Amino acid sequence: MKAIILSGGKGTRLRPLTYTGAKQLVPVANKPILWYGIEAIVAAGITDIGIIISPETGEEVKLKTGDGERFGANITYILQEKPAGLAHAVKVARPFLGDDPFVMYLGDNLIQSELGSFLNDFKEQHMDALILLRPVANPTAFGVAQVDAQGRVLHLVEKPKVPPSNLALVGIYFFANTIHDAIDRIRPSARGELEITDAIQDLINYQKQVEARRIEGWWLDTGKKDDLLEANQIILDTCLQSDMAGEVDAQSQIFGRVRVGSGSRLINCTVRGPVTIGRDCHLENCFIGPYSSIADQVTLVDVDLEHSVILQGATVTGIHQRIVDSVIGQRARLKAAPQRPKALRFMIGDDSQIELT
Ligand code: G1P
Repeated sequence: MKAIILSGGKGTRLRPLTYTGAKQLVPVANKPILWYGIEAIVAAGITDIGIIISPETGEEVKLKTGDGERFGANITYILQEKPAGLAHAVKVARPFLGDDPFVMYLGDNLIQSELGSFLNDFKEQHMDALILLRPVANPTAFGVAQVDAQGRVLHLVEKPKVPPSNLALVGIYFFANTIHDAIDRIRPSARGELEITDAIQDLINYQKQVEARRIEGWWLDTGKKDDLLEANQIILDTCLQSDMAGEVDAQSQIFGRVRVGSGSRLINCTVRGPVTIGRDCHLENCFIGPYSSIADQVTLVDVDLEHSVILQGATVTGIHQRIVDSVIGQRARLKAAPQRPKALRFMIGDDSQIELT
């Protein structure tokens, strides 16, 4: 059994963060989203992993993620020259996959359930495809399935205007090698892509064994800012363990689960967990409230924030209103005058969003 993780795409819904980096590397609780997928696959016993990368962000993904040693896996990088669809990515990965069955994992998806029991069902029942489903409020934004009472899939459609059900396809799929013939038979969709949804529908048309399981627990597709903040909140809630590798002075107070990385200094700060702070940060006279993730090399002085994500190398000083529900990009600088400012001076990147409320 092998796995492929899709880590290409343009990440348009996460601009401006994705102008300078891959969406799969945006951190959730200070760890790239992509790494959660790798860890879930390795936990299910699969160590031969292909990561599909794009020409734009592939080098960054490779550099950050490496050859897989840190995960106990063997990672092969596979270049998809153009974003021509999920089924196209499988086509590009064919030399890596050979005739092995495989898991396909979309690199910006996170689920609470472990993959092991799905994988066992897939293998023991010799399925051609196993898909995972979850009810959603906005099915038109996803692939949607219609299933019968036995869990057999009757019909699949990608981003339907009139959805046949509220069951969305989660971005994690299990396939036997019969999927390759199906992909060879399908044609590009109206948006010009080879859709994996169409390939699975083709298997159904050929009476192949296609089954679905509903997932329990959360499913996060970290494509947008609010999804990213929600993912951050859920991961901090469920996975964060306290760890004080950095320095915290006697004037500071720490409540709840808080992690402070090595080389970081907290001076006269109050931190109310769950909060994770990376390495080599400088925090002075700050209140850091629940569900905040602060990456490495961040400077915060005279700042009050909660439920926010601050990326590597950012600096925020002298903001006395509470910063909430915010994502601040790498190396961004935000600074206010000590008294009420007479003027505001900005240099704001394309597609940025600022709300002075
Ligand atoms: C893709 C799939 C869709 C699936 C979704 C899950 O959509 O095409 O069927 O429901 O992932 O995240 P995309 O996120 O590429 O729009």
